[in-house]
Amino acid sequence: MKNIAVLVSGGGTNLQALIDAQNSGRIKSGKISCVISSKQDAYALTRAANSGIKTAVVARGDYATFEEYDIALAKALQNFNIDVVVLAGFLTILGENVIKVFENRIINIHPALIPSFCGKGFYGLKVHQAALERGVKLTGATAHFVTLGCDEGPIISQKAVEVLPNDTPEALQKRVMEQAEWVILPQAVEIVCSSI
Ligand code: GAR
Repeated sequence: MKNIAVLVSGGGTNLQALIDAQNSGRIKSGKISCVISSKQDAYALTRAANSGIKTAVVARGDYATFEEYDIALAKALQNFNIDVVVLAGFLTILGENVIKVFENRIINIHPALIPSFCGKGFYGLKVHQAALERGVKLTGATAHFVTLGCDEGPIISQKAVEVLPNDTPEALQKRVMEQAEWVILPQAVEIVCSSI
């Protein structure tokens, strides 16, 4: 059984999908041992507490330099004895102190079909706004390993979602979450936990 850390910054619907998958046995090779938030007021922390999962806050603003922040995050993960790290709407870039220690063991969920609409500056609603502006008819979500290049790591799985006429960024975000993110992220976590 692998120890999983879920890193969050916001509402935590992907965290909830992971908790639900654990409770229903779809994730069976790992256990969510802690949730670490980059923000004190993230609703994801309430979701974690409601499920009896330990929480911690490691905020970039509490450290003078990015390097100090990155070392603190790596230490927090090591203190929880973590095997697999899941970025579930975690909006802070990871540095090499975390990435090198957990190489091939960090999974991110991105709300588009990589290599479209990804990289620096593409997060949350901005991704869906860009997809609508470009006029794509299909978008989706990608679960991938995290490397030092933003959204450049090996792809674990993807799922396509239709863009509908009159979609707003919010409507598209909701459909991509429901049809793709909440489906493929738990699957990717089980794949990685069962294979390391
Ligand atoms: C999700 O749509 C996730 O894919 C996205 O942020 C949202 C977080 O929602 N992540 C990125 O854009 C990363 N580049 P949640 O807090 O409800 O899971």
